[in-house]
Amino acid sequence: AKAIFLLSFTALLLAGCGRENLTALVPKGYGAEQSMKLIILTTVVMGSVFIIVCIILAFVLFKFRRKKGQEDFIPKQVEGHKGLEVIWTVIPIILVIIMAVPTTLVSFDLADASDAKDHLNIKVTGNQYWWHFDYEGEDIQTSQDLYIPVGEKVYLNMISTDVIHSFWVPAISGKMDVNPENVNTMYIEAYEEGVYYGKCAEFCGPSHSLMDFKVIAVSKEEYDKWVADMQNYDPEKDKPESAIAQEGKELFEQNNCMACHAIGSSPNQVGPNLTNFGNRSKLAGIEEHTKEKVIEWIQDPESLKPGNLMTGKYPKLNDDEAEKIAEYLMQLKATDITPDSAGK
Ligand code: CUA
Repeated sequence: AKAIFLLSFTALLLAGCGRENLTALVPKGYGAEQSMKLIILTTVVMGSVFIIVCIILAFVLFKFRRKKGQEDFIPKQVEGHKGLEVIWTVIPIILVIIMAVPTTLVSFDLADASDAKDHLNIKVTGNQYWWHFDYEGEDIQTSQDLYIPVGEKVYLNMISTDVIHSFWVPAISGKMDVNPENVNTMYIEAYEEGVYYGKCAEFCGPSHSLMDFKVIAVSKEEYDKWVADMQNYDPEKDKPESAIAQEGKELFEQNNCMACHAIGSSPNQVGPNLTNFGNRSKLAGIEEHTKEKVIEWIQDPESLKPGNLMTGKYPKLNDDEAEKIAEYLMQLKATDITPDSAGK
């Protein structure tokens, strides 16, 4: 009962962050499940220590209180007590071991890449302030949206192009630093189909808190279809749906957007890959995915994501030009497997 009380108290404290599929307290994947077991273990251990200390404190305060008629009485003074000192050294050591051993085992387990060759491997690149996913050997590149098959181990080999980030999808994974110098590997597995929200968990600059992304777990059949659609997608053959979109495409090319943004499986990763941009459910990971927001982004990205690399990289576009480019981007779709269709 103690544990349940403490857990519900913790849950209440964290309720502010309680967007569905953005909480480590309702695990829906292997890494998060292991983390949850550790959260319960440490909460029970530390909660018990807290309660026992409170009981002892209350007992001592009551038992040794100053009583009527004893105002000048000084109780027996004690200095040093071998037995007590041994007890309060040994008990904490035992408690630390009880918590440290499982924590270390889980950390090593989640970073164990011994069977990586038998599973899907995705290269994850952290950038200020967006994420890139390169499906190694599959010729597929995506940004911001990471599609994975449900119920399967997926290995993420993570590196940063600039500063240290941290990859965290609270509902399904543990947390792993993403360093510029070395590749860190972690595997994730989602138990249920659906969209899981990811955060950067290492302070990395002014837009650190805006460095959101999504993991979209779909059935094996849908995943295979998504892979086929992505591999078959040819941006050259993807004709804009309207005259405005066609003009947008031309403006996109004239303004050198392709210097940073690839459409299709080109490995260019200066800026986010825009294949499937029309299927995104968020703009830049954070904003509503509407044409109006895209126009706002094109005209003033700094106001939406301070410190992003796009600011000042191209001539200022007028309302008409920005709208045409937005129209073009909003209809870029390589597949009908989308965040909205996942788990439905
Ligand atoms: Cu990237 Cu914080």
